[in-house]
Amino acid sequence: MNDIALEDRVALDAWYVVAAADELRPGRTRCVTLLGRRLEVTRRGCGEVEVAPEAGGGALPVALRFGYVWTTLGAPAAEVFAIPEYEEPDRRNLNAGSIGVRTSAPRVVENFLDMGHLPIVHTDVLGVEARAEIKPYRVDVTAEPDQILATRCRIFQPMSSLAATEGFEVDYTFRVPHPYCAVLYKSSAVDPARNDVIAIFVQPVDQDHSIAHMLVSGLDRTNSDQAIRAFQQFIFGQDRPILENQIPARLPLDPRAEIPIRIDATSSAYRRWLREKGVRYGVLA
Ligand SMILES: [Fe+2]
Repeated sequence: MNDIALEDRVALDAWYVVAAADELRPGRTRCVTLLGRRLEVTRRGCGEVEVAPEAGGGALPVALRFGYVWTTLGAPAAEVFAIPEYEEPDRRNLNAGSIGVRTSAPRVVENFLDMGHLPIVHTDVLGVEARAEIKPYRVDVTAEPDQILATRCRIFQPMSSLAATEGFEVDYTFRVPHPYCAVLYKSSAVDPARNDVIAIFVQPVDQDHSIAHMLVSGLDRTNSDQAIRAFQQFIFGQDRPILENQIPARLPLDPRAEIPIRIDATSSAYRRWLREKGVRYGVLA
């Protein structure tokens, strides 16, 4: 048991993904770890999903959203945040993978928000080194809803998604509605008037280990689920060694930390937001 989780009301009262709903077989139990606690996730014969601490103590709240099973160790003030696009009838919604990473949940989220790494880490796919400059964009932090929104983030991408047939300047919006989850909206290669949505729901296994659960809600009508998943996992496979080499694993929230490493506007807003919320789990306060 990790005591810091007990002191972190924000972390305790949040909802977390602990499994992909379609990977749970009826009548079977899967053991998972969340905030250092061992939990059992069971799909009953009737289809209902239960989550309970391995040590006993009764069932935990469960929500099924976005193809994933969510639970909490505390008492969330609200439901799991909404992603309205997910409900649009012509969307392809799929669990794009659940990938273990040896680092803290906030490191995974911060990397997901960082435009600057795209030309360097995902060279010739999500960016090109010759056009690596990031134009100014806007970051807003609001209380109602409680989230960070970075808008008008633009970058040239040779292959913005598997459905892209040519490079173009992609417009991104990043949204952080949860300390360990982020949603990005990027111009769709299929329909320029709409966005593909990619979300990352990070399960903090403990302070230094995470599972990144990915959702793709896109407009691609040509590629198979398997190919779309493989593309997302290829991209995340490029991020993973970078993430695992970041030291310390816990995200430093002190604004003086990690100088002179360049920190972009969204990252610094994210660190400030976590600090102001009083998040302790997975960070160095
Ligand atoms: Fe990346």
